[in-house]
Amino acid sequence: MTINQYDNNNSQSLDILEPQEGNYFVAAYPPFSCWTRDNVSQVHNALSTPPDPKSRAPLGLYIHIPFCAKRCDYCYYLSYDDKLKHVQSYVDAVVCELSIYADRPAITGRKPTFIYFGGGTPSILSSQQIQTLLEGLKTSLPWDDIQEATFECAPKTATTTKLQILRHAGITRLSIGAQQLNDEVLRANGRIHLSSDIYRAYELARETGFPVINLDLIVGLVHETDETFYASLEQVIDMAPDSVTIYQLEIPLNTPLYKQLADDSRTDTPNAPAIADWNTKRRRLMRAFSMLEDHGYHVCGGYSAVRNLKEHRFAYQQDQYQGADLLGLGAASFSYLAGMHYQNSASLESYMECLNAGTLPIERAYALCKSDRMLREFLLQLKLGSLSIDYFRQKFGVEICILFASQLKRCMNFDWLTVQGDTIELTREGLLRVDRIIPNFYPDKFRVARYS
Ligand SMILES: C[S@@+](CC[C@H](N)C(=O)[O-])C[C@H]1O[C@@H](n2cnc3c(N)ncnc32)[C@H](O)[C@@H]1O
Ligand code: SF4
Repeated sequence: MTINQYDNNNSQSLDILEPQEGNYFVAAYPPFSCWTRDNVSQVHNALSTPPDPKSRAPLGLYIHIPFCAKRCDYCYYLSYDDKLKHVQSYVDAVVCELSIYADRPAITGRKPTFIYFGGGTPSILSSQQIQTLLEGLKTSLPWDDIQEATFECAPKTATTTKLQILRHAGITRLSIGAQQLNDEVLRANGRIHLSSDIYRAYELARETGFPVINLDLIVGLVHETDETFYASLEQVIDMAPDSVTIYQLEIPLNTPLYKQLADDSRTDTPNAPAIADWNTKRRRLMRAFSMLEDHGYHVCGGYSAVRNLKEHRFAYQQDQYQGADLLGLGAASFSYLAGMHYQNSASLESYMECLNAGTLPIERAYALCKSDRMLREFLLQLKLGSLSIDYFRQKFGVEICILFASQLKRCMNFDWLTVQGDTIELTREGLLRVDRIIPNFYPDKFRVARYS
């Protein structure tokens, strides 16, 4: 049986359905759709309780900036290109949100060790707004213990002044959204920048002296071919970023691209572009990882490769995957605190209304029991490609090879995973489909859950 037949055959031992559309990337466990308003009061209780000094987890911050100059056709993140007049008041609201948290016993006196500004497009903020935001956040929780601070930057928005302010304020990792280095592909996907903007932003970032520069790419974009994708990757390798992240294109149902494909399927004269299937995306990503390895990079998960595993360790991801607390600030951000997952309101208006009234804009939550927390870390660590069996024995008192014996065995039968000594390791074929494998470890009640 070929992988293709298997992937679409639900009667086989693993349920790896591969619909062309819908969400793919697993960002949280349990699935967002299982988080409810009823559980929000438990978050407020958790915030009123000081952390247990024995089990004190590292603290990270995520700040969502939901504004873009123009929405791209494939993007599903919460972001507005028609509400830019609210940017200043939004920055003030985010600063206010952290000041409310800083007074809660679960947070008071703690110092974050990692921070991530994501979007949307954080670099759409003016120099003045960047300064207001960063200084305002530091007033509530000082940055003396910060090991890593990432800021996402869209190529056209990079200016010398902004990058210098960011570096001076302590940003250590600049993540540039390149997506691909082919102007026709960029245009066909609704990007507003060209390859020349990527080169310019990258050079500026290097001159400014960020310790880590990451380039984000997507494999499977509209109009992409093997040739355009591999040529883009060669150009990326020539630029020599410290880290390269390559996402496989998802076509979530709330994107213009999905609407175009759905409209097309209802007409006799379709004109939507051909979209790469999952096997094509995996094949291209497989070769991309090999090309990066040939140039000294190390693959460190399903999406990324770095030049130096120690120096370019990505704390935002790795610490969260080991149970760190994360405070998510801004509209639609999600948090993980004291064993609770929760999410802010995904409407800009209601987010701002709550903060104008001095209340936290928390909309839905899920309280994880001990076995949920163990499974959450297990699933997230799978995304890194390997994990220690003893870690779970020591932290949760479980034998994961016994607990997940049947799922692990089935993955091994497909050569997607190996178990050797203390290590469970995904093969490259396994790593390339890790987000399809993960739901097979869910308990039944979550297997049927919607994504969001
Ligand atoms: C929230 S965006 C922020 C970056 C910045 N706004 C930009 O586009 O340059 C983070 C990354 O998500 C990825 N992304 C967005 N939509 C995606 C999709 N439908 N499938 C796969 N990756 C996607 C892109 O690689 C993007 O760089
Ligand atoms: S990919 Fe980046 S620029 Fe494009 S809509 Fe999404 S967040 Fe905005």
